[in-house]
Amino acid sequence: MNAAAPGSEEVVLVVDFGAQYAQLIARRVREARVYSEIVAPTISAGEIARREPIGIIFSGGPDSVHAEGAIAIDPGVYDLGIPILGICYGAQLIAGQNGGLVDRTDRGEYGRTTLTVDNDDSILLGGTPGEQSVWMSHFDAIVKPPTGVAAIASTPDAPVAAFEDREQRLYGVQFHPEVMHTKHGQQVIEQFLRVGCGSTGRWTMASIIDTAVEQIRAQVGDHRALCGLSGGVDSAVAAAVVHKAIGDQLTCVFVDTGLMRLDEGEQVIETFERNFGVDLIHVEAGDRFFAALAGITEPEAKRRAIGELFIRVFEDAQAQVEGADFLVQGTLYPDVIESGSEHASTIKSHHNVGGLPDDIDFALVEPLRSLFKDEVRQVGRELGLPDEIVERQPFPGPGLGVRIIGEVTPDKVATLQHADFIVREELRNAGLEREIWQSFAVLPDIRSVGVMGDERTYGYPIIIRAVTSEDAMTADWARIPYDVLETMSSRVINEVPGVNRVAYDITSKPPGTIEWE
Ligand code: XMP
Repeated sequence: MNAAAPGSEEVVLVVDFGAQYAQLIARRVREARVYSEIVAPTISAGEIARREPIGIIFSGGPDSVHAEGAIAIDPGVYDLGIPILGICYGAQLIAGQNGGLVDRTDRGEYGRTTLTVDNDDSILLGGTPGEQSVWMSHFDAIVKPPTGVAAIASTPDAPVAAFEDREQRLYGVQFHPEVMHTKHGQQVIEQFLRVGCGSTGRWTMASIIDTAVEQIRAQVGDHRALCGLSGGVDSAVAAAVVHKAIGDQLTCVFVDTGLMRLDEGEQVIETFERNFGVDLIHVEAGDRFFAALAGITEPEAKRRAIGELFIRVFEDAQAQVEGADFLVQGTLYPDVIESGSEHASTIKSHHNVGGLPDDIDFALVEPLRSLFKDEVRQVGRELGLPDEIVERQPFPGPGLGVRIIGEVTPDKVATLQHADFIVREELRNAGLEREIWQSFAVLPDIRSVGVMGDERTYGYPIIIRAVTSEDAMTADWARIPYDVLETMSSRVINEVPGVNRVAYDITSKPPGTIEWE
């Protein structure tokens, strides 16, 4: 998998020792314009050598190096002559495996700490202040660096808070340079890459696109490819890259389920058919979806009904395209990393809802397989996709079907689309759109009494949901200013017929989920 770095000859391998930080480290390396990949600690020194990285970074991890069965790395890696930077647990591991000493301290060190730099000429810390704020999270501490390696910084609780040796090409930091709270963290990472590893930092969005285009042309040859457009960022960017590579040999299928946000279908058609000139099969399937959903109220039953019909409609469209052997998928790097791990339990049946069948007989073209979401957005921008698509928030496959509690009907969808549009528009007007992970309206299956003018009303409430999140696994309800909520509320009540009350959901995840169903 991914033997060649897309758009770059230079690869840095990030060894994941189990903390949540490995992805962040990989992203920071890429921000320094060096391509990075995450690998498991079980990787052999031989495999590392085969991949020819210009540098290796060991991430932090939850273990103590002294714990029974603590994860280590094949010590042969130290004989390869490749520069290695250890972070937190990674630094302790380097020390432990190379003649240094890691001790239990009486108390750990957590949070912001002041680092004192003892060597101004060091590669990692040169040019940074003599005293600086860093983020720590450790219990054990390195008390003696690896043999022949000098300590270059300390903190009150970590006598060896950083070490390096140019000859042995060993570098370590007890603090976390990848987190925002470490003020000069990005500089430390960049200095390791540029000076320690000799990277040129030439990995750019334009180079990624050029390489992807070449690879797609080589893979697809003169065959045809098919791509399902969902309206979301990933499938849109994947389609745009593949279209750049093979032009008319690509056919896109856009199934309008009738459960999309206001004007979303129109935007997809405008962008792909009219602006890019993509061969697009547009299936208006709203009536079929409403028929399939009639009488269904249970959330998972709705998901199943929508998911199954989606596959059938997609297959009908696919039958119209002769000889397509390839299917374009917007798989991203986090999906690739995560598919290697086991997920504890399924709370909602997300997979494949609004996605594609598992047993489809195609070869896959996955041009975004090595990219993180923010990189995909940059590629999309570079290819000329409009902001409305590139900046789009995540949207569930079953669409508004899981934001209408109870039975889904065309009237309810129209009500919700209207209210949802107002919520998102006001958030954009307030300049808050980018801070918010998802913001939308929910239509519950209850009515309440109100009064408008002199009239008693008996109408539906709209619930506003807005959350901040990093990855949708956890989320916090967004502290939207009262005056923005006020504008949303009065606009929804005045402009959306049948709605007489607005509530704001102040539940975080957990215990809530982001969606209501
Ligand atoms: P929850 O509601 O579980 O959602 O906190 C986490 C993220 O997943 C999205 N979501 C879905 N995506 N099909 C999807 O493709 C689904 O059935 C589905 N349900 C929730 C949700 O919008 C959030 O981003």
